[in-house]
Amino acid sequence: MDTLLIKNIRAVYGTGSPDVLRKEGEEMGVIGTMHDVSILVKDGRISDISSRIDAPSGCKVIDAARGCVLPAFCDSHTHLVYAGCRDGEFRDKIAGMSYEEIAARGGGILNSADLLHETSEDELYRQSMSRVNEIIRMGTGAVEIKSGYGLDTADELKMLRVIRRIRETSPVTVKSTFLGAHAVGRKYVGRQEEYVDLICREMLPEIARENLADYVDVFCDEGFFTVRQTARILEAAAEYGLVPKIHANELAVSGGVQVGVEHNALSVDHLERTTDNEIAALKGSSTMPTMLPGTSFFLGIPYGRAKDFIRAGLGVALASDYNPGSSPCGNMRFIMALGCIRMHLTPEEALTATTLNTAYAMGVSDSLGSIAAGKTANLIITTPIPSLAFIPYSYQTPFIRNVILNGEEAFTDNLA
Ligand code: NIG
Ligand code: FE
Repeated sequence: MDTLLIKNIRAVYGTGSPDVLRKEGEEMGVIGTMHDVSILVKDGRISDISSRIDAPSGCKVIDAARGCVLPAFCDSHTHLVYAGCRDGEFRDKIAGMSYEEIAARGGGILNSADLLHETSEDELYRQSMSRVNEIIRMGTGAVEIKSGYGLDTADELKMLRVIRRIRETSPVTVKSTFLGAHAVGRKYVGRQEEYVDLICREMLPEIARENLADYVDVFCDEGFFTVRQTARILEAAAEYGLVPKIHANELAVSGGVQVGVEHNALSVDHLERTTDNEIAALKGSSTMPTMLPGTSFFLGIPYGRAKDFIRAGLGVALASDYNPGSSPCGNMRFIMALGCIRMHLTPEEALTATTLNTAYAMGVSDSLGSIAAGKTANLIITTPIPSLAFIPYSYQTPFIRNVILNGEEAFTDNLA
């Protein structure tokens, strides 16, 4: 049996019962903390957390040297499989063009689709894996990745196969989401209904046949897909057992939250533009409201009303949205810091929002997102930081010393 002992830990943040699959309202601010303990890991799972554990013979030992341990981040919303980048559009953006204006003149998502079309599956895998390795170094242990830069059947399948290959070759836990309805493919511009037909009649059956997706997504927003088209795609996807996680209310109060909740979405994401009607629609549902503060930062659009959601008794998750157009950054530490600095979450709420609640929003909180006996050992070991608040406060300090995924060292910073 493979065993690992992490000893000499000053504090473990984010402990709790493995039965708690998400936290809502005031509970988000309550995180389990244990002091002066060791963690024993057997065969990739946490087996014990206590002050008296002797290293079994043959056991690997990591001396945390009075550092802290927290759950590895779960990033429940990314588009990190893409080709090239959009640094040219960055100049237009700085000069004052909005996201919508760049998209309207054929840039944006369609620009990334053109680049992806010219890129081989192997090269796309290579570029994407370097982003996966980048986020591991920053403490991410689970990631949801969307298609949506293919926008025709062959290229959507290419993206989803790359996501499958990442799942097979990386220690990160990966969930895959089909986002054919990210934009209307170039060949279908002006024929949006026919493009929706293509998604329902051709893309979904092929994806289901190869079992390439866990979830389905639609960009339900002004200028992209309507509520009616979204409902149609979600109903077609339900035939294949695909649960929705949708893009809603980024550019306008789009009705996306309501159509998501009606179709039992696992999460509704973005939510930069919401009224009390969206809060009311989410109450009592099993849908996790997910906000993407990196996108608000990069596009200069409003931040989601996380505090109002929590006061209303809802849970909130915070994810990176790592993508080339609206959030070219997959650093969940930065997302946690923005949650505190710009959305006024407490450090405890921000930790819950980037670990347990994002684990829920990608369907893995039974095994990830908190530290408990029986759960998978996806852990961050820090240098000796003074407190939990130090994490979002000192948001650029390189305090991540080790990242443990499935009980094995996935990253070690030898300078830390
Ligand atoms: O989540 N809003 C839609 N999709 C992405 C942006 C994709 C892109 O611009 O490439 C987002 O922000
Ligand atoms: Fe997104």
